[in-house]
Amino acid sequence: MVVVKEMPRVDISTQPSNFGKFVDRAFRDVKPVIVSGFDPELDRTARALMDDFVNFSELPDDNKREYCYPKLAGQFGFTPQDTEQSGYAGGKDSAGGKLQEHREHFMIGSQLPEGHPLLDICPPFIYFDAKNAVGFPFPDMVTNGNRLVELVEDARMRMYAGLEQARGLPPGSIAFIVPYGTTVVRLHHYPGIRGDIVKEYEVNGVKAIDMLLPSGELKKGLVYAADHTDIDCTAWLLRANKPGFAQRDKTGNVERFTAGKDYEGSAVVNVGDYGKFMSNPDWTLGAAPFGTVQDGGYGSGVHWVEINTETMQDPRFSIVAFGHNRPTVVVCDKIDRIVRPNIASVVRRVIPEVDRRGVRESEALYARLAEIGYLGSTEAERLENLAGMLEALRPLPSDREVVKEILGWERTQPEDSPYKGRLGQFYERRNT
Ligand SMILES: [Fe+2]
Repeated sequence: MVVVKEMPRVDISTQPSNFGKFVDRAFRDVKPVIVSGFDPELDRTARALMDDFVNFSELPDDNKREYCYPKLAGQFGFTPQDTEQSGYAGGKDSAGGKLQEHREHFMIGSQLPEGHPLLDICPPFIYFDAKNAVGFPFPDMVTNGNRLVELVEDARMRMYAGLEQARGLPPGSIAFIVPYGTTVVRLHHYPGIRGDIVKEYEVNGVKAIDMLLPSGELKKGLVYAADHTDIDCTAWLLRANKPGFAQRDKTGNVERFTAGKDYEGSAVVNVGDYGKFMSNPDWTLGAAPFGTVQDGGYGSGVHWVEINTETMQDPRFSIVAFGHNRPTVVVCDKIDRIVRPNIASVVRRVIPEVDRRGVRESEALYARLAEIGYLGSTEAERLENLAGMLEALRPLPSDREVVKEILGWERTQPEDSPYKGRLGQFYERRNT
């Protein structure tokens, strides 16, 4: 049964333990929460980013495709329609395979500060380097995107500090994974569609339409995004000019977010796959077994974006930030919990130690990107490129070594630097 309900809403300036309790309860119930009361800079930056992206979206298709970078897929650049099928990763009951996604998007990844040790340690396709943007006609889009990633990192650290209090965990135990993550912002463009609706129906609770286009082509099972879970700890939907977001909660009810204007200064936040695995059991990183949803753990919310048939002639635009952690953090014990068996076997072949030491964020990320359509135009090409990218990750040191390097670098930063103690504050608190 589908029940339309109001989403829980909370202000980020609420006293941390109350804020944490509220969010913790929603995440246990696999519900998204609306978090409001952000720093006004976040709203300003998102607004400026959106204005530039709307202009970008109006460029001719061939021109936009010049900014499609296969090697940086998932971290930076343009993704044309029919590349990503996020619904393929919606689980065995997903409607994804039966639906067609009507969407293109642009990603802007994290940019590390100059001199940061991860710049030397990580392959260039993990963090976005400004030199990749040379010649890009909307340079402000990149700077605003990088800034938005940092502002979302700040908001995540506040949220995780609240969750730590609510769950009685040592301060910093969750927030420790946030600084210098591979967080990305994604700008979605769902182009306007004109035609005759032949049929409206639901597949596993997901509303879809069959449509006869003026060209005579029949498009079947159209959605903006099919049902899927996200590749991240938490996703932050920061802006949308139209409703469409829907998520199924723990009891099977569907929460639909109906407001458009309410996004200003707020975000719809939901838990992704890393958040699910790492919260089961209780964010005790590295303490196997991960991934079995236990009482008190979070579920990765299955969600989708529906087409509003009344307003589908006009485009829908939205901004989401996918909150990731450092590429060296172990997010899950078994690669099979994350991707289909043929993709998991590529990971196991290239990184045999994955079964013993667990799956790192960077490995999980690239395996999932291959699964949902990136890294090549055929399945064989995707698997081959995935193997190559995993090979390039192999020299990555352990997270413990990376953390040590970063702490050393932070100590050399001037007192007024925003990076001074960004990671160190949690490290010290964790160890007292
Ligand atoms: Fe999503």
